[in-house]
Amino acid sequence: MTLSKQVFPLLLFSLFNFPLLHASNPRKCSSYYDSLRCGRFEDPIRFPFCGHTGFNLHCTDLNKTVLELPMSGIFLVDEIKYAKQQILINDPRKCLVKRLLTFNISGTPFSHRLNVDYTFLTCPKEVVMPSWYPPIPCLSNSTFSFFATSNLALANSMLPSYQVVKRVDVPASWLFQESIFSSSINYASLLLEWDSPNCKSCGMANMR
Ligand SMILES: *[C@@H]1O[C@H](CO)[C@@H](O)[C@H](O)[C@H]1NC(C)=O
Ligand SMILES: *[C@@H]1O[C@H](CO)[C@@H](O)[C@H](O)[C@H]1NC(C)=O
Ligand SMILES: *[C@@H]1O[C@H](CO)[C@@H](O)[C@H](O)[C@H]1NC(C)=O
Repeated sequence: MTLSKQVFPLLLFSLFNFPLLHASNPRKCSSYYDSLRCGRFEDPIRFPFCGHTGFNLHCTDLNKTVLELPMSGIFLVDEIKYAKQQILINDPRKCLVKRLLTFNISGTPFSHRLNVDYTFLTCPKEVVMPSWYPPIPCLSNSTFSFFATSNLALANSMLPSYQVVKRVDVPASWLFQESIFSSSINYASLLLEWDSPNCKSCGMANMR
């Protein structure tokens, strides 16, 4: 076995699995105005994320901030907009569509700000048309291509050669209006918001 063959899986393991297995809780904030960070470049963690039930932020061993959703697992935190009570999250493995197939925020303090109605489809490789429709690479394999679109009419026009895997209300951060199949959603961030506890006027809007 060459060195690169040994190192590569190890590297993948440490990048993708290690932080998730060893995620630890940030220290509790000692006061309302206290804030802490998992790493130098991460958004500050403060009320309601320190200590409030359901706001499960963790720090990974790589000093990244992650959010744990009980039914959907762990997501990387892109940004926390305290004044708007919104959080942007993405998939650490860059395969968001796979996460969206089982995404469910039931039982969490969060809700969707926007819903974009996405259709996920598969098609046997030999019938894929037209060839310039970009598939979702991480869900395609040697025999099937996997596609996503927010254009329902287009999705319907591809049946029955294409098969619908699932229709999902995606909490996108902007209104994707696609005319074609697109892989953009796979690399996007999801936008969740919380209403309670309401601290929009706590005067921390400009504190970073
Ligand atoms: C994470 O942060 C700690 C404390 O600041 C630091 O000692 C450590 O080197 C950092 N780890 C990485 C992977 O950046
Ligand atoms: C999420 O889970 C809840 C509780 O199991 C269920 O009632 C609800 O239909 C699910 N929502 C979605 C979008 O799958
Ligand atoms: C390829 O993907 C399709 C559709 O997602 C799945 O049904 C099939 O089992 C996969 N085949 C292999 C060899 O992984």
